[in-house]
Amino acid sequence: MLGARGGWRALRRCASLPRAVRLRVCEALGAREPAEAVRVQGWVRSVRSQKEVLFLHINDGSSLESLQVVADPSLEKRDLTFGSAVEVQGKLVKSPHKMQNMELQAETIHVVGPCDIWSFPLKMRERHPLEYLRQFPHLRCRNNTLGALLRIRSEATASIHSFFQDNGYVHIHTPVITSNDCEGAGELFQIETSREEKESVEKSHFFNVPAFLTVSGQLHLEVMAGAFTHVFTFGPTFRAENSQSRRHLAEFYMVEAELSFTESLQDIMQVMEDLFKTVTSTVLSKCPRDVELFHKYIAPAQKGRLEQMLKHKFMIISYSEAVEILKQAPQTFTFKPEWGCDLQTEHEKYLVKHCGEVPVFVVNYPYDLKPFYMRDNEDGPQHTVAAVDLLVPGVGELCGGSLREERLPFLESRLQRLGLTDAYQWYLDLRKFGSVPHGGFGMGFERYLQYILGVDNIKDVIPFPRFSHSCLL
Ligand code: 4AD
Ligand code: MG
Repeated sequence: MLGARGGWRALRRCASLPRAVRLRVCEALGAREPAEAVRVQGWVRSVRSQKEVLFLHINDGSSLESLQVVADPSLEKRDLTFGSAVEVQGKLVKSPHKMQNMELQAETIHVVGPCDIWSFPLKMRERHPLEYLRQFPHLRCRNNTLGALLRIRSEATASIHSFFQDNGYVHIHTPVITSNDCEGAGELFQIETSREEKESVEKSHFFNVPAFLTVSGQLHLEVMAGAFTHVFTFGPTFRAENSQSRRHLAEFYMVEAELSFTESLQDIMQVMEDLFKTVTSTVLSKCPRDVELFHKYIAPAQKGRLEQMLKHKFMIISYSEAVEILKQAPQTFTFKPEWGCDLQTEHEKYLVKHCGEVPVFVVNYPYDLKPFYMRDNEDGPQHTVAAVDLLVPGVGELCGGSLREERLPFLESRLQRLGLTDAYQWYLDLRKFGSVPHGGFGMGFERYLQYILGVDNIKDVIPFPRFSHSCLL
């Protein structure tokens, strides 16, 4: 985003041009000096016609704030309505209003694209609930809340990339189409061609083997961690699981990192915590107005919680301790807590509450609960692996990670027991040729946004909610 100075430089550069210089709304709002001939393009957020003066507010998505346009009532036209696309040319002047720095005194107003306000689902000056907006995935980005969300999402994406690049990680594009089921949970979307005629069974697979949309880029990252030591990926991930829930999507974005020459889960947790805190601080400082909107209208207590969270170290408890805490809880759970059973959302929420509504790492999960790649802790009688989940208030599991089993005999016997030896020969190769202790984690990007902004439904932090009845939930 160009700051005020950038906009002003652009103004001066173009001062000699006959055509008025085009400014984005954020540049016009942040300009230090008045300017004679500027053009602003955008969509009308409000129209107010008075006897002596016509007021418009124009927004082009560059900031939460819209630019006030002041015009002679003679410039009013029938198709100059809320929602229409316009180009306004005129003078940028200091605004007499305390709340805004600059305003545009219009000389011409050109309606580029009219908007039928009667059939347009968004209404001027109405605060539309998020559930209502979900019905219009193709229009909701023109609403303030969704606009703010999408700017925050964009800034958080850039900040995640910077965090890893600044810390020496190499970015890897891991495949979207793959034949592996990294998590082994069977939540796969299988890919087939749309060809109707099926030939022989083998030929019916486009790649000659069953192919799926990726559930995680981890195994591919492990390949790369065998050459670059520190790698990350940040891409679309797919899971065929309950998309009606408030924290599950069929298609979501996952940030994943893999670190070689790492023997302690502590190192992995440190990267998770640093990533979380760095990206959150950046978003708070780069998008203060957008974040404020969420913390004012959507989740009023969230601001203070985040500030506290940024100041303190995240807590760490073991899975076994977590089960004990749950067993002693004064409340009854739908799923009875037992050592060896997975932690359910109700358990995760209780644990976070018990720890004071702060992020909590839970480490060392039962061996039988977790995927084949996690490192055996060789303990007993309660056998665990070096796994870690990061639980956060309101959302539950935000990150999942582990040390990986780098020892060939351990991995071989585990894959054999699971009947996966043939499929994972290439993965076993990584343990034969220069294997090193390593580990990594994945963070759900939408859950991250849900947490920092205090958004209840995960469908409200994605650009395009699925257009179906379930979107209303
Ligand atoms: O815990 P998960 O399944 O971990 C992995 O896939 C590892 N292979 C990652 C790694 O170590 N490289 O998923 C990681 C995170 C979860 O903690 C959660 O935040 C998010 O991905 N996630 C989902 N987010 C939205 N919708 C879903 N259906 C999700 N499933 C997982
Ligand atoms: Mg997990």
